[in-house]
This record gives sequence, C-alpha cells and structure tokens, in this order.
Amino acid sequence: MTASLLVTFASVASVTTTYAWSNPHPFPPGSTGLGLLAIAVMVLGFALYFHVEKVSERGLSTSNHSITFHRIPSWFSLCLLSLFCLRAGLWATQTNAVSYHPIDMLIYEAQAAHEFHRNQSAISHALPDAVRRYREKYNRHPPPGFQHWYRYATERGSIVIDEFDGIYNDLLPFYALSPGEIRLRTWKVTSNPWHFAGAIIIRDGEASIGPNVVPTHVWMLDGVMEILDNFVRWLPDMDLAFNLNDECRIAVPFETVEQMREQGRRSDVNLKSSQHDFSKNRGEQWRPIPDESNDAERVLHELSLEKTFYDFSSIGCSPASPARTRRKWDVSALCTECTAPHSLGGFLGNWTLAADVCHQPDLADLHGLYLSPAAFRGSSELYPIFSQSKAAGFNDILYPSAWNYMEKAHYAPSDSRPDMPFELKNDTLFWRGATSEGVSAGAGQWKGMARQRFVHLANNVNASAAPRSLLVPAPRPNAKHRLTYESVPSSQLTELFSVDINVVDSIVRCGGRDCPDQAAEFAPMASHSDFQDHWRYKYLLDLDGAGFSGRFLPFLRSGSLPFKAALFREWWDDRVTPWQHFVPLDLRGHAFWATLMYFTGLNGQLNGRDVQVEGHGVEAQRIAQRGQKWANLVLRKEDMEIYFFRLLLEWGRLTDDRRDDLGYGE
Ligand SMILES: *[C@@H]1O[C@H](CO)[C@@H](O)[C@H](O)[C@H]1NC(C)=O
Ligand SMILES: *[C@@H]1O[C@H](CO)[C@@H](O)[C@H](O)[C@H]1NC(C)=O
Ligand SMILES: *[C@@H]1O[C@H](CO)[C@@H](O)[C@H](O)[C@H]1NC(C)=O
Ligand SMILES: *[C@@H]1O[C@H](CO)[C@@H](O)[C@H](O)[C@H]1NC(C)=O
Repeated sequence: MTASLLVTFASVASVTTTYAWSNPHPFPPGSTGLGLLAIAVMVLGFALYFHVEKVSERGLSTSNHSITFHRIPSWFSLCLLSLFCLRAGLWATQTNAVSYHPIDMLIYEAQAAHEFHRNQSAISHALPDAVRRYREKYNRHPPPGFQHWYRYATERGSIVIDEFDGIYNDLLPFYALSPGEIRLRTWKVTSNPWHFAGAIIIRDGEASIGPNVVPTHVWMLDGVMEILDNFVRWLPDMDLAFNLNDECRIAVPFETVEQMREQGRRSDVNLKSSQHDFSKNRGEQWRPIPDESNDAERVLHELSLEKTFYDFSSIGCSPASPARTRRKWDVSALCTECTAPHSLGGFLGNWTLAADVCHQPDLADLHGLYLSPAAFRGSSELYPIFSQSKAAGFNDILYPSAWNYMEKAHYAPSDSRPDMPFELKNDTLFWRGATSEGVSAGAGQWKGMARQRFVHLANNVNASAAPRSLLVPAPRPNAKHRLTYESVPSSQLTELFSVDINVVDSIVRCGGRDCPDQAAEFAPMASHSDFQDHWRYKYLLDLDGAGFSGRFLPFLRSGSLPFKAALFREWWDDRVTPWQHFVPLDLRGHAFWATLMYFTGLNGQLNGRDVQVEGHGVEAQRIAQRGQKWANLVLRKEDMEIYFFRLLLEWGRLTDDRRDDLGYGE
C-alpha cells in the first residue's frame, strides 16, 4: 500500500506526460486507443483477406460461385479498413494539436446552459401555474402547504420556483419505504449518540433539538433551528435526523436503490389528492428518543480510517461500471479512461459527469473520503439522514448547510481589507487550508489526498518531478493546428506563474511518520491569515475537505474568481454553472497549470522557444462578476430557507400514513 501511494503522489499530482494529454478535442476520446484498434483491425483484415483467398482457392475446385462470393466482400472490406485505419491513424498522431482552445468553447457553451437553466427555473408566474408545472414535472401533486411555500418564496423574490430536481432525486428512493418504516429508521439513527446523528423534533409548529446530541456538535443543530424558525409553523409534526459529521453516510447498493427509485416513480403517477392536510395524529407516531444514552442497537457501521471506495462508497454504481469492476489502477499515470468522459481536451468539460464516480475507479486512491476518512459511520441500508454534502453514489438527503447560513466563513470586505476592482487585484492563485481531508495514520495516505496533492502540485520545484502540460501556440501554426499541448518542467512552471498555495500552521490528522513527512514536504507552512485577505487575489482556489468546502459561497460572492476542485456536491449544485460562474478543475489536478495559464497568459521561454500568450483577464473578470451576481440572486440566505422549506414539506408528506392521497389542491 505504501509503495502504491508513493507512486500516487509523485505521479497523479504531477501527471501530464504527453500521454495524459493525448486526447484533446476535436478528436474523439480515447483516440490513441482507437489508433491501436485500427492497427489491430488492419492486421486482422489482412489475415482474414489472405485466409479467405486460401479458402476461395480451395473453393475453386468445388464451385465457381464461392470465388465471387468470397472475393468481392474481402476486397471491399479491405478498402474500407484501409480508409478507417488512415483516419484513425491520423487521429492518433495529431492529438497533441488543436484548432481552438477548449476553454473558449466551454465558456461559450456554459452561457447557453445557464440561460436554459434559468428559463426552466421560473416559468410560472402565479400559484396555479406553479402547481401545474409541478404536476407536469414531478408527476404528482405538490405537497400540502405548497401555497405557503409559494408565497414565502415569491415574497422573498426567489428566481427559482419550478426547478427542484435535487429534492426530487434525493427523496425518490424513500417512496419504497412505508411511512412507518421511515419513522422507525429515524428513531434508530437518532436514539444512539454513537451514530452522530442529531434529532430535530417538530411539534405544533415549533422545533426543538432532541436529547443526546454531542455538545461539540450542537452548533450545527442550532444553525438548523435558526433556518427552521422562519417557516416551522407550516410544517407537520415530525422528527428529523441530521448528520453531525462532515462525511456523508448512506450508500445503498445499485441493485437495491434502482429498484427503490423505480417504485418511487411508479408511486408518482398517483394523481388523486383527496386530502389537502397532513394527518392529525402525526406527533404521537414518532417513538420518543430516549434521554439517556442507552444501548440502542447500532445500525451504522464504523468505517473511519478505512479504504472505503471498493466495498462501500462505490456500491451505488452499476455492477458493470469500472468503479465496481476495476481494481488497483496504476496511479503512476493519469487514467485517461477515467477522465475522458467528462473532459474536453485536457480540461474539465462536464461538472455533472465529473461528480459521477462510476467511470472513475482511480478516485479510490485520490481522495481522503476514500483513502482514510476521519469520522465515517455509514450504512448501506436506506436510513433517512440529512447531510450538508455528499459524493455521488450516496443517498443522504441534502439540505443547505448551517455553516453557510450562519456565515461561519463569510464575505465581509472592509476598508482595511477591501474587495478591490478586479484589475487591481494581485494576479495570483491563492489557497490556505489544513490537511484535514482525511487521516494519514502512517501508511502514507496523504500522498493521495486532494488537498495535499494540490499543494504539492503548486509548490514542487524539484527539477526531477514529472513535467506538466500547457496548451500553447503551435510552433508552425495553421488553421487546424493553432495550439499544441507541450510538456514543461514543473520547476519552470512555478517561476512562470504566481501561485500562493500553502498549508496553514501545522500538519493535522496524521500519525506515525506521516506527520514529519508532511511537515517536511509542506515546509515552510503559512501562518494564519484573515479570511478577508482573500479578496486581494484575483484567483481563489477552493478544495474539498472531509466534506464540502465552507468557503465556496463566500468566494463566489466576492469579486475574485474561484477555481473549484471537488468530490462533494451540495444543495445548490444545479443552480450554479461551471465556466459561467466559476472555474472547475479536475480532482486529479492535471489541468491545473494549463487552466491558470488560460486566464493569466504567459510570457517566457518554453523548451527553447519564446512563447507569448495573451491572457484572458477579461473573461476571468466576467466570470467572477457573473458568479457574484448570480450568487446574490439564488444563493442568498433566503434561498437556503426556501429550499429547506420545500424539502421539509415533501418530507412531511413522505412520512405521512396517507401520503398517497395527500396533496395540495385548489
Ligand atoms: C430563455 O428565455 C429568453 C426570453 O424568454 C429567450 O430569449 C432565450 O432564447 C431563452 N434561452 C434559452 C437557452 O432557452
Ligand atoms: C454532462 O453529463 C450529463 C450526465 O451524463 C449529461 O446529462 C449532460 O448532457 C452533459 N452535459 C453536456 C454539456 O454535455
Ligand atoms: C501577490 O501575491 C504574492 C503571493 O502572496 C506575493 O508574493 C506578491 O508580493 C504579491 N504581489 C503584489 C504586487 O502585492
Ligand atoms: C527530488 O525528487 C527526487 C525523487 O523523488 C529525490 O530523490 C530528490 O531528493 C528530490 N530533490 C530535492 C531537491 O528535493
């Protein structure tokens, strides 16, 4: 294990050999493979041809018919094969050059995607409209209380009225459980404090925190209470289980959860709604959570410090997917099969797909959640747990984080720490953080963790480190080959670009030799800086930790441009469009320098020739401004309330014994 992780660090962190970049657009993904395939097919073609010739010759003696029958198709197929090989061979050899910059294309496409989404989010302009849209979109009646929600949302100027697919998708499998079973499971996870799931109890329009919540984690539930306070009077009696840890909890095997979703979809079409109000006797249906820490059954499993990907975290993928079938990727080279589906050239092309771990078995060794999570108690049965973020394949129910709602890290520039105009900001990519993604207890796991890899990537000036690629003007450009991917020694990259990416203070969550090893690697560490110092920099790096990054929303709200690499997704994921509102990075970091270069430009000597590239500062500023504006429209505290309110009305219906008859009706 140690050996393989060592390789991880030296390589994926510093990947980008020519091979790693060998499939830029417009050539189809895997074109190198295609080239090999073409050669194989060609050889096979020849073999087949000569074989057929022989058969035909033998056939001569018996019948003339067989000659024509065999000869024509073999000649014909040989011609076709040659053409195919020529084409594929060309693909395979030309893949390092492209006619335009993929990021130009991605920014262009993002604009359209965002507009489309924006149009979809708010088509209706009155309650009856919204009800109709709801029925069309989700095949059922809106939940009881929808009229209160609608008024709440419109009074607070919510742009998003119709589009809540995240809620729909999170709740769908729960329709396969009876309301009684959901209530029982809520009781089971909240009645044993070992589970680190805290209860919120709603009775008669008021919320309270359940017994047995670990004191250090109460702040989180206090935050939830603060959000609830705005609309709890419209919610039915129920108990809710909140995840008190960062890591998500519930991963149900694909085979089971797909069936549950199917069951959920079938229950959708039930469009009778004879009942317009939640049942009356709901309060007494929830079994009281014991005051004393008792010996209630443990229904979650201890997975802390374990490698979780293969046996737990990826079981939500189909059994045929690479995540379930491939083991032990050679992490010393970039797994291009893993990146190709969500990449355009070397760059991150599809943020939604990038979150899907099913085609990315290499992630098993590239994130703290999968390598060695700090606090991970989970289940592969569908327990109803509300979490702040989750990785793909988990079935936690997302809710807006109290961390953001309470503004534990918030955007508050001042005269002494102003958010100056973009052009006046320091042209640097900035990050500060702790080694808290997972626990590196002595087996060298830190070398695979995303935070550590990015810090290493940005600072490793060791001349013997593997070179990394940039996309620069071709030496002899023509219309088809304007730009070319070129390998550049990493020592040169740290001179050419300005980055300030460092671990703060000291190494945390480590054990054994992983403490001194990291201390040596990341020395000198940065001293603590004020959060409001961020706005001095044009570019802000945002990285996952043990869960979602609490800084991203303030980054988005600022006038600086966030670069984000993340495994975890949050409630707002489909509201924000990558390349329109922020710059997405692959978790592997292979396009780290090339992406930065797109915005900053370059002026220097590369492999013996002068290269000058104009930066896209104007685009950077535009994305930063759009992100800021959009965040102020759809990611406000009000928007968190509106999302949560709607989610809990849906949850109220789902836990009601008469849920099939229950719906808002005019
Ligand atoms: C969104 O709506 C506007 C105005 O209704 C329309 O002009 C635009 O074409 C729409 N965009 C997309 C992508 O649907
Ligand atoms: C990104 O991937 C998702 C999921 O596969 C797909 O539905 C979507 O159309 C893709 N988006 C683009 C722009 O290709
Ligand atoms: C920009 O930030 C970098 C890294 O923090 C620092 O070294 C440099 O001096 C700053 N430049 C200016 C002009 O302030
Ligand atoms: C550079 O890396 C090599 C191999 O990992 C190592 O042997 C060498 O000591 C490093 N040099 C420096 C200056 O860190």
